[in-house]
Order: sequence, then C-alpha cells, then structure tokens
Amino acid sequence: MLTQLTSFATVGLISERITVEVGATPGEGKIFIVGLGDTAVQESKQRVMLALRSNGYRVSTGRTITVNLAPADLRKAGPRYDLAIALGILMVNGSIKIDEEKLRHIGFLGELSLDGGLRHITGVLPAAIACRAHGISTIVVPSANGPEAALIPGLTVIAADHIQDVIAVLLGEKTASNIPPPASSPRSVNNDFVDFADVRGQEHAKRALEIAAAGGHNILMCGAPGAGKTLLARAFRGILPPLSREESIEVTQIYSVANLLPADTPLITHRPFRIVHHTASGVSIVGGGQIPGPGEISLAHKGVLFLDELAEFPSQVLEVLRQPLEDRHITITRAQGSVTFPADFTMVAAMNPPRFSAGSAERIHRRISAPLLDRIDLTINVQPVPIEDLKRTATNGSESSNDVLARVVAARARQAERFKGTTIRANREMGVKHIDTLCPLNDTAHQLLLQAVDRLGLSARSYHRTIKVARTIADLSGAKNIEVGHVAEALQFRQSIDE
Ligand SMILES: Nc1ncnc2c1ncn2[C@@H]1O[C@H](COP(=O)(O)OP(=O)(O)OP(=O)(O)O)[C@@H](O)[C@H]1O
Ligand SMILES: [Mg+2]
Repeated sequence: MLTQLTSFATVGLISERITVEVGATPGEGKIFIVGLGDTAVQESKQRVMLALRSNGYRVSTGRTITVNLAPADLRKAGPRYDLAIALGILMVNGSIKIDEEKLRHIGFLGELSLDGGLRHITGVLPAAIACRAHGISTIVVPSANGPEAALIPGLTVIAADHIQDVIAVLLGEKTASNIPPPASSPRSVNNDFVDFADVRGQEHAKRALEIAAAGGHNILMCGAPGAGKTLLARAFRGILPPLSREESIEVTQIYSVANLLPADTPLITHRPFRIVHHTASGVSIVGGGQIPGPGEISLAHKGVLFLDELAEFPSQVLEVLRQPLEDRHITITRAQGSVTFPADFTMVAAMNPPRFSAGSAERIHRRISAPLLDRIDLTINVQPVPIEDLKRTATNGSESSNDVLARVVAARARQAERFKGTTIRANREMGVKHIDTLCPLNDTAHQLLLQAVDRLGLSARSYHRTIKVARTIADLSGAKNIEVGHVAEALQFRQSIDE
C-alpha cells in the first residue's frame, strides 16, 4: 500500500516541490522517515502519532510505515510536512479514503500540535508561488497562514485550524471556505514616525534625504553629537516611495521565510526600515545559520538599512556589506550548497566626525574603508540647529513629509520610464554603460564636472556617482536633460567625513 502527497520545501527564498510518499509493510509497528530530514522532521513521527491517536485513529499496529520525502538529495527542515505525513498514514492504514486523482491537485503544508491542531509555519508565500507554478490548483495551510497563501491569484486556499477539518473537506463532508485575497493593509501606524515638518531647519540635510529617496542613493550623515542625525534618519522613512505590488510580494516572501510576517499583515506594503546596531553579529546582518536564513540586509530589501554610529561597527562587518551593496543580493555558501537572498537596499549611515570620537581619525578611516565610502553617493555634514531655533514652535511653512514624498514619487515615475525593459529601478543602480548612454551632459555641465574632478581630485567612481546624483536632481525638477545647475548641486553632497 503506497500513497503520495505533495508538499513544499524552502531553500533560501525558493520553494521546491516535495513528494511525501507513505508506504506500509507488515512489521512491528514502527515509523521511519527517510529523505534528509532535520531534527524537526524526525520529530514529526512523535507529533503525528500523538495527534492521530488523540483523534481516535489507530496507527501502525502490525505494520511498519515508511515515509519518504523526495527528492532525497534536498535537505528538508522544520515541521511543515506533519500534515502531509499524517494524512498519508491515515490513507495507507485505510482510515480514510481519498481519490488519488483529487490528491494530485492539492499541496499540503502545516505543523501539527499534539491534539491535531494546525500551527503557523514559515515560508508559505514562496510555497504558494511554487504550488501555482507547478499547476497545482489548491493548497491546504494552517488558518494562521491563510491570508499569506491567498495573495497568489488563481490558487484555491483551504485554511484549516485542525486536521479533522482538512479530512472533512477532503472527504467532501464539509465545504472548504476559500479565502479571498487580502485587501492591501493600510500603512501601519508607526510611533517612530517623524514628519519632515517637525525637523527644524536642516534644509541641506533634508534636500539630501529627498535626493536619496528619489534615486535610491546611499547616504552618510556626519555631525556632532546631538546635531539631529538620528532624527533625520527617522524622518527619511516618511518620504520613501510606496512599493509596487511586485516589490511587495518580493519583500513579503523574505519576511515569510524569516518568520517575521506580522499576524495581521499578510502583505508588506511599505518599504522596510531596518535599524542595525553596531554590536550586531555579521551573521545577523548578512544572513546565514545552519539552514541559511535572511539577515538584516535582506530584511531591508527594497527599503532602508540604517547604520547609526557607523564608526563603531567592526571593520569585518563593514567589509561584508561591500559586495551586497554592489550586487544587490547575497549568496550564502554552505557544504550542502548555496542559497541567494535579495538585498537591494538603500544604506543610510550616521556618524560623528573623527574629532568627536575616542579613536584617532586614522583608525576610523581604516575602519570605514574607501571601498565602502565609494558606495555612498551622498555625504553631508549635519550642523546642529541653534537652541533658540529649536524652541520656536512655528514651523515657518516647512514642508511636510507628504509634500516631499509627492516629488519623490514623480521622480521615481520618470526613472521607471527611463529604465523600462531593464532590471534597473532607480538611478543608483546604473552602471557606467547606462550612465554613458542615459545621462548625457551638455558642454557647460561637463566642463563644470571636469573642473571639479581637477580641483577635488575626484576618482573615476566619484565622477560617475556625481552624474548619477545629478540625474536624480534633474528627475526631481522634472528636467529631461542634466543641466549645469544639477551638476553643481550634486557636487555639494560630497563632503569629507572629517569636517
Ligand atoms: N533640527 C531639529 N529639529 C527638531 N529637533 C531636533 C533637531 N535637531 C535635534 N533635535 C533634537 O535633539 C535631539 C538629538 O538629536 P539626534 O538624536 O538626532 O542627534 P544625533 O545627531 O543623532 O546625535 P548623536 O551623534 O549623539 O547620536 C533629539 O531628541 C531631537 O529631537
Ligand atoms: Mg544619533
């Protein structure tokens, strides 16, 4: 007696189809699970046995049950196969009879509690995507994962609280209530939110943040303690352009796999903003672990990675950021193979200039190596706003975050038009070739830039960065071509970290 059910494994962000084969042979009443399962998979045996017994089923008396998770060369982790294994055992035992043809169109995912309840699992969204891609029309998941699976159009989602509900639906005793796709969640209210209008003065810094949001540029803010750097970074959140539907799904997949998807938010609709502390480990920042999971740089995908107190980060940590900043993804290699997570984020960094730090300027320079600084398009000095100006309550007609956001959104739309048919989304991502073809400078603009190269000793990299920033400035003002004024403004955002 043999039966087969379909389930899904997650490898990084990719979900692979798994066939759960259950067979019974005469024997002494044991269960074996084969096919490279981790401890949680092995523990399935106990959970499944108890869950079935507590629901009145007699399991494996006088037979040996073998569960094979195929393909055998793929490592399988976690308790997600419990439901498929339990149903397979019930079928080979003859406790329930389900049409094989019907089974072929269903994928099963879910952890069992000892009484047969279905528990929330990770990585349901990637599984739902894979299910659809394999032409399987229905997915059965724990209720807590239902809204997440329902994000994928064209997939019937059966969300259940208990294995008995699943059995009842499979036997046709109960009709499944298909979950409608969730309406997009409102922008979550954030206590941490700072409106641009509440930041007094700081026009230069605010303008730099606007450019950073518009072109996805990395930015470094340097300034004395109390100058308002952390405050400005928090205000940056409010001027980030909304995510497209496609980007939302991408980001949600990462949070699903990391088990960080809030219960009331099946779809992440606003850009992530991740604050990383300098004591955080390299693994927590870039990702890793025995079964590689996403780190902060991937949780910041399509959003912001905020490194406050940049000079305090260990140089090895800053070093590992360089490659993902360039590639916009991270590959984690393990003996069993490698997995890749997306890591397309805007880096916002803040630091005190070396003269305020305990260490010598030289030490700080060594730590924040030139190659890292080379990936930062905008560097600004943040000067403290005088106390008497801070005390003033009137905001002098200061622009709100929404006013700035409107310009950012318009500038992004211009970029989307420009980069149609490419994988580029924002000006920051342009390579030298794109800069040459998409960012022509007129003579006066070019002359100014060449003079600056001469005077400031700009490297080839800085030269290209300045053009990219000038392109974003032009996009913000709605200009088709980069003019001399745009280049002049771009040159203001390249202060040295020592000032
Ligand atoms: N321009 C400003 N408008 C309103 N409040 C401000 C401004 N600048 C600073 N503040 C207030 O001053 C305090 C210190 O600012 P913040 O923490 O951002 O400084 P910082 O530059 O990050 O300092 P540190 O280098 O010590 O981390 C904040 O509580 C903030 O509310
Ligand atoms: Mg600070």
